This record gives sequence, structure tokens and C-alpha cells, in this order.
Amino acid sequence: MKELLKVEHLTKTFTSGLIGGFEIRAVDDVNFEIKPGEIVSLVGESGSGKTTIGKLILHLLTPTSGRILFEGKDIMKLSKKEIKKNYYRKVQAVFQDPFASFNPLHEVDRAFDLVFNSFFPDVSKGERNDMINQALVQVGLNPSEVRGKYPHQLSGGQLQRVLIARSLLLKPKLLIADEAVSMLDASTRIDILNLLGDFRDKYGTAVLFITHDLALGYYISDYTIIMYRGTIVEMGDTEKVFHNPLHPYTQMLLESVPDLNVKWEFKGIEPEKEEGAVYSIQGCRYAPRCPRAKDVCFKVRPKLRELEENHWVACHLYGGE
Ligand SMILES: Nc1ncnc2c1ncn2[C@@H]1O[C@H](COP(=O)(O)OP(=O)(O)OP(=O)(O)O)[C@@H](O)[C@H]1O
Ligand SMILES: [Mg+2]
Repeated sequence: MKELLKVEHLTKTFTSGLIGGFEIRAVDDVNFEIKPGEIVSLVGESGSGKTTIGKLILHLLTPTSGRILFEGKDIMKLSKKEIKKNYYRKVQAVFQDPFASFNPLHEVDRAFDLVFNSFFPDVSKGERNDMINQALVQVGLNPSEVRGKYPHQLSGGQLQRVLIARSLLLKPKLLIADEAVSMLDASTRIDILNLLGDFRDKYGTAVLFITHDLALGYYISDYTIIMYRGTIVEMGDTEKVFHNPLHPYTQMLLESVPDLNVKWEFKGIEPEKEEGAVYSIQGCRYAPRCPRAKDVCFKVRPKLRELEENHWVACHLYGGE
């Protein structure tokens, strides 16, 4: 199947602080694809570059180098008008904090204005009402309980559903969900994940599901990408990555998932060395924390290699130096 989104050698650097700052390679030579209708999880601890990748795909940041192809076209070559009218119709996003996406002084209905003004300027008021109601019902909300309310009168889960309803009015080809369920309680979280799965099944919407929570990634995705400090260390079919993790970092993450049967034996995550030092490592960024690191790991950046079908790892333990 031809890919919907292709990320090629994507790199984004920032400078930390003004004077004496070091270069943060937040995203460093990242390559991956998303097929139509595929749910892909981007997993990694805080600071691994997940949100930066989301923002680059959303055209909110400019890559330092590399390309993002959507339906075969380099998005940096699209005009402002094409981005606004066409790209944002096909690529939508839902973020972590639903409260931050609403104006506290406006009724939540106003959140739909942007979509209608930009993409359906000609629909009548009556049609607009019907479309909003239908979208709210689709995400499991009762319109009469939501419409006319202010954000503080609704729960985080209800607000997140309103935002998903707004995005899905456009039936986007790609939805970027950046920690979209992190602030919700466990049962609401699963409801929202199921909702994203349902929309994929119904409309073929692909999802880039950004999370630091491995279990959520496992629950929802077909394909999983594991990031560490701006680099992809492992990626592949979700079942393969979770049942046969190859990279020591993926193995450590999976061992760190608390086990309900074992009390207080959580191994935890090793503290990291000074942040700036990580970005100056020539070799594998994980080498200073890796219990199995060899000399070469500090010197040469391992390349992603396909060790079994649809399962890639960047690690010298598997050869290919
Ligand atoms: N505008 C910016 N200016 C400078 N540094 C930035 C900027 N945005 C991100 N960074 C840095 O880039 C790195 C990656 O940040 P990013 O927000 O992409 O991580 P993340 O994986 O989404 O983390 P989290 O799980 O905490 O959301 C971090 O070290 C961060 O401090
Ligand atoms: Mg983030």
C-alpha cells in the first residue's frame, strides 16, 4: 500500500539558552512512514522529540533538514493557502490539555467556528447545527448536555471528545494525537482510544498516536516507533516490538511497566547524564545508559536495520557496524 505520510531524514535542532547554550538535536535523521488508515504509536520518554515531530508534520515548525511528504508532496513546498485550505483539511490534531484548546470566556460551540469558517463557509445555520449535533453524537456526547456550556462546566473527557468531534467533521486522512488521553482517567482514556479506532475503521483515518505510555501504544496501534533522544531506536509491527523487543532501551521500557503482581519491585529508569552531553555523543545516544554497550556504541551511530520482516532496530548488538 502506498504511504500517506513519509518522513525522510527529518532533523530539527534547537539551541538551549542564549549564551553558552548547547545544540539540542531534538529530532535527528528520523525516517518513517504512515500508511492510509494505519495507527502508529510514537513512544519515548520526556524530551525524546515526539512533540517536535508532531509539530513538524503539522507545519508549525520548519525542519532544519529532511523532508515530510504527504500524499507524495513535500509539505514545505506547499503555499500558505494550500496548507490552510487543503493540508489542514486532511491533517488534524488533538493535544494533551483539552482546556487549553478552548477560550474560557466562550461557549464550547464556538470551537467549531474555525472549522466552518475555513472549510464549510457556505453551509446554512441549520445545516451547521445539524452537522455539529451529529458529530457530537458520534463521539458519544449528548448535544444538549454540551452545547451552550462553558469549558469549566465540562469535564476534561467531554472537552476532549468535543475537540475530536471538531477534527472528525473534516474526516481527516491523518490525525495527530499528542498525549491526547494523558490527562484523562483510565476508563475515559480507553473510551477515547476506542473512538479513535472506530473512526479509523469507519473513515480510514490514520493516527499518529504520540505517547510516553507503552501500554496505551500497545492497546491502540498497528505499528510502534520507539524514540530515544531524537533518534528512532526500534520500530515495527506492534506485536513484534512488544513481544520480541530487540533494543536494550525498548527492553528496559517494557521491564519498567509496573506489574500488578509485583509490589515495589519497579526497576525504574536510570538517571541520565548531563543533558547537553547526550547530544554530543557520536555513537548511540543510549550508550551511556546501556548495560550492554560496547566500545563501538560510543563511536558509531547504529543504523536502523530490518532484522525480521517489518521489525527494525538501530543497535550494534545485532551487527551491521
Ligand atoms: N522551541 C524549543 N526551543 C528549544 N528547545 C526545544 C524547543 N522545543 C523542544 N525543545 C527541546 O527539544 C527536545 C524534545 O522536545 P519534545 O517536546 O519534542 O519532547 P517530547 O518527546 O514531546 O517530550 P514530552 O514527553 O515531555 O512531551 C527537548 O530537549 C526540548 O527541551
Ligand atoms: Mg511532548
